[in-house]
Amino acid sequence: MSAARWEARADLVVVGTGVAGLTAALRARELGLRVLVVTKAAGGDGNTRWAQGGVAVVLPGEHDEGDTVDAHVADTLVAGAGLCDEAAVAAIVSGGPAAVTRLRERGAVFDPAPGGKLARTREGGHSAFRVVHAGGDATGAEVERALLAAAGDDRVPVLEDHVAVDAVRTPLGAVCGLLVLDSAGVPGVVTAPAVLLASGGLGQLYQATSNPEVATGDGLALAMRAGAHAADVEFVQFHPTVLYTGRGARGRCPLVTEAVRGEGAVLLDALGQRVMRGVHPLEDLAPRDVVAAAITRHAATAPGGVDDHVFLDATGIGDFARRFPTVLAACLAAGIDPASRPIPVAPAAHFACGGVVADVDGRTAVTGLYAAGEVARTGLHGANRLASNSLLEGLVVGTRAADAVAADLALGLLARASGHAELPTAPVADRDSLQRVMSRYAAIGRDAEGLAVVGSVLDLSTTDRVLDSRERVEDAALTLAARALIAAAAERTETRGCHVRTDHAGRDDARWSRSQVVRLTPSGQPVLADPALARDAA
Ligand code: SIN
Repeated sequence: MSAARWEARADLVVVGTGVAGLTAALRARELGLRVLVVTKAAGGDGNTRWAQGGVAVVLPGEHDEGDTVDAHVADTLVAGAGLCDEAAVAAIVSGGPAAVTRLRERGAVFDPAPGGKLARTREGGHSAFRVVHAGGDATGAEVERALLAAAGDDRVPVLEDHVAVDAVRTPLGAVCGLLVLDSAGVPGVVTAPAVLLASGGLGQLYQATSNPEVATGDGLALAMRAGAHAADVEFVQFHPTVLYTGRGARGRCPLVTEAVRGEGAVLLDALGQRVMRGVHPLEDLAPRDVVAAAITRHAATAPGGVDDHVFLDATGIGDFARRFPTVLAACLAAGIDPASRPIPVAPAAHFACGGVVADVDGRTAVTGLYAAGEVARTGLHGANRLASNSLLEGLVVGTRAADAVAADLALGLLARASGHAELPTAPVADRDSLQRVMSRYAAIGRDAEGLAVVGSVLDLSTTDRVLDSRERVEDAALTLAARALIAAAAERTETRGCHVRTDHAGRDDARWSRSQVVRLTPSGQPVLADPALARDAA
């Protein structure tokens, strides 16, 4: 007997109300599809609104200094440390100008420069000033505001406090709906031939993260249970600079945008020595993986007796309050005035470079299942995402995914069917233990022994549970994501991008210039798939 006690119907159900999900829903509406959006929290509670730096994009007429889409592509490939899919990078980066233009038509307001063009900043790994921003350092908040307002204007139905649990599938495995817990915890089904996952990342795998509490890897777990593959999951990007508020920070830590370094701030240790000098030709504007790893190594030597953070000297930035109001407010709340003293900062988990294997149109290998934004692994990021390419990806792939759903429906490729839906049972680990061991052994700097410890702790703290609440769904997702990550991280015996192996320093191109694909066994364990699949994904 089905567990579902209510039913809704749509052509497309979108999971998530961040940049990718809302962009897709708005586009689907334009295309005449019946679209329904579900989110487990309130509409604006996702990760998008916390994005600070901006959107990396080369806009026609805005870049007089010779910046080009090709240069943006080249910077993305360098940051990705040999694992980007070049065709995906070219498609997404070249789709940026149209996507940002459409976003502005939908009401997003970007900061102007004197003279009327858009202001642009620079972040780590960019060879030019090409990052457009809003509200100084509140770009994500403006993008989210504009998209939520547009969704309201276009009457896109958004079900808040509704938790996506599992895909509903036909006997042949095609997705034909979504099992959802409503705001009272009652299970129901949204019957739909297309489900788009735009549910964000998994920063909550770690004790300290720039991500909000909703970032628990739910979409990754749902997709894998539905038979989709994941790739590049070992590459979790740590942002080099979140505000350090004391030893043992927990949960979401305020971001100190990389654009602060783009405007001239430098990293210092407690003795006033430059952290990035001699580490990389771009020094403080090296790609993010390089800076985060350098801070970690440098702090471990405890200069001046300080071993868990460094300092960002922004005292030379004259108009800090106007340019970085969000960072300023967080600093002042912590009793720090960036105008008069360096900001204490430390790395924290920030972005999943890997995820559900999908093409640039959001299609996964499972009929009817699509993925866009941080949950997806399109090949744009490779082993390390270039700064401010994430909002860009959400805008471009969100649009393309809605177009793909419309095209697949028109061709009759999707399953219009009702399916049987039972609340699934899945392994669930204790969240606190999981976050503790992931932070200790699977963050920046991993080795075989530590990764094995994570596995043992998960074994000891895991029990099978029915996924009948938001907490259970999240904990099951974190458990699956942690298992997938440590399986891939243990196998990759090299250091590349965000994956730093202390027992295998250096990049091994002969062996490891490829992605790893993870799939679920019938008993629900993530295992590495045949490397031939990895070649197809890469
Ligand atoms: C930042 O502003 O430093 C973060 C932006 C991003 O993750 O791309």
